[in-house]
Amino acid sequence: MSRLVYVLNGPNLNLLGTREPEIYGSETLATVERQCLALAGDLALELRFHQSNREYELIDWIHEARGTAAGIVINPAAFTHTSVAILDALAAFEGPVIEVHMSNVHRREEFRRHSFVSGRAEGVIVGCGTQGYLFGLQRIARLIERT
Ligand code: DQA
Repeated sequence: MSRLVYVLNGPNLNLLGTREPEIYGSETLATVERQCLALAGDLALELRFHQSNREYELIDWIHEARGTAAGIVINPAAFTHTSVAILDALAAFEGPVIEVHMSNVHRREEFRRHSFVSGRAEGVIVGCGTQGYLFGLQRIARLIERT
């Protein structure tokens, strides 16, 4: 049974720490990756952590996860609200998907309330800052125990 989990990050998340820190906080994506790796060790998960500003790269990683990974934690960032292509790629993935947003998207602009991805996700974590990624990994670990 695979213990491999993909953690995927969409556009502009490479700027985490300096981008709108009043909304997204001051931790960098490299720090989030380190925290995820540390927790993955505790949960006996193997991790592939990626970020891209390009939709097709995220889709390619989701395809790569098919048949090999146990689950996906994804923050599609702005693609959340626009991308049927990412939804379709996730629909072709067999395992659990957890969608993460650091900010509480329901407390922001109206257009952030709609997610194409949520209809495919087993769980959605919003407004918990970078801790949301850790909750996502814990949830995947629990879900794959049951399969
Ligand atoms: C985000 C929320 C999105 O609406 C936004 O486009 C992002 C980040 C979040 O983590 O809160 O880039 O996904």
